[in-house]
Amino acid sequence: MRIAFVGGGHMTTSLVGGLLRRGTTAGSLRVSDPVPAQLERLARDFGVRGTGDNREAIADADLVVLAVKPQDMASAARGISRELCGRRRVVVSIAAGIRLADLARWIGEGIPTVRAMPNRPALIGAGITALYAGDGVSKDDRDAVDALMSAVGETVWLDQESQMDVVTAVSGSGPAYFFLLVEALESAGMAHGLPQETARRLAVATALGAGRMAAESGVAPAILREQVTSKGGTTAAALEVLEEKAVRAIFHHAVEAATRRSAQLAVEFGGK
Ligand SMILES: NC(=O)c1ccc[n+]([C@@H]2O[C@H](COP(=O)([O-])OP(=O)(O)OC[C@H]3O[C@@H](n4cnc5c(N)ncnc54)[C@H](OP(=O)(O)O)[C@@H]3O)[C@@H](O)[C@H]2O)c1
Repeated sequence: MRIAFVGGGHMTTSLVGGLLRRGTTAGSLRVSDPVPAQLERLARDFGVRGTGDNREAIADADLVVLAVKPQDMASAARGISRELCGRRRVVVSIAAGIRLADLARWIGEGIPTVRAMPNRPALIGAGITALYAGDGVSKDDRDAVDALMSAVGETVWLDQESQMDVVTAVSGSGPAYFFLLVEALESAGMAHGLPQETARRLAVATALGAGRMAAESGVAPAILREQVTSKGGTTAAALEVLEEKAVRAIFHHAVEAATRRSAQLAVEFGGK
């Protein structure tokens, strides 16, 4: 399977690194980017061939990954439409907020296309990517795209493209919510007498430990919470305040706002 990446930035770098660690050969990967320094870095770090010409990069690819910023997608996609209508190949767009219908207008109808929404921790191989397959995407195509995105973390398939907006609000923007939580815990620790370094280490390690338990224990988060909350104890005192301050409603509104913004951005980007 030959894979071409259009756009050689952060996400492509993570995907290339992840694929090579899983045994893909550098010779089966190509990257195009207008910035020579990006291509030199990818060649130096991974031995991957690069070019400034998107059409040349995708010429012999079986899988084409569109990894440019959403605002650059219309022109990048239009620029390779002629090559894409040649032989059959699968296109994956990882751009936030770009709908398959808009992509089809730019690259041409009838090309099997998958929309992917990774998140920031993909940069360290700990991401989660939501995927949605458009018409004409076969089981083999899905498996190939799943293997690609699994190189940087977990994958989950959606059955409706409209779910991408809420995915963006939950896992796309989600890392920022957890950073905020760590920040808040750190400053609360400092306000009550801990040195900053100690408060940060406690907050970060607690986030990591709780995240790993939620991921690895196979136990629902609500049960894990109950297991660490003894009646009349310290955790119960803190949780009572959080519930009183309506922390669940705050998250509900936050996700609602991000979902709405994602849908607005899709209209803005797609209108090009
Ligand atoms: N990074 C994340 O955490 C994350 C998470 C979820 C989704 N995504 C999505 O992944 C995509 C890539 O993100 P990124 O963080 O990797 O962006 P990035 O680091 O900015 O990389 C994009 C690269 O594409 C290049 N480029 C621009 N126009 C191009 C064109 N017409 N043809 C070929 N290359 C072109 C850019 O060059 P210039 O610098 O010269 O513009 C840049 O080097 C975005 O659409 C983003 O929505 C990213």
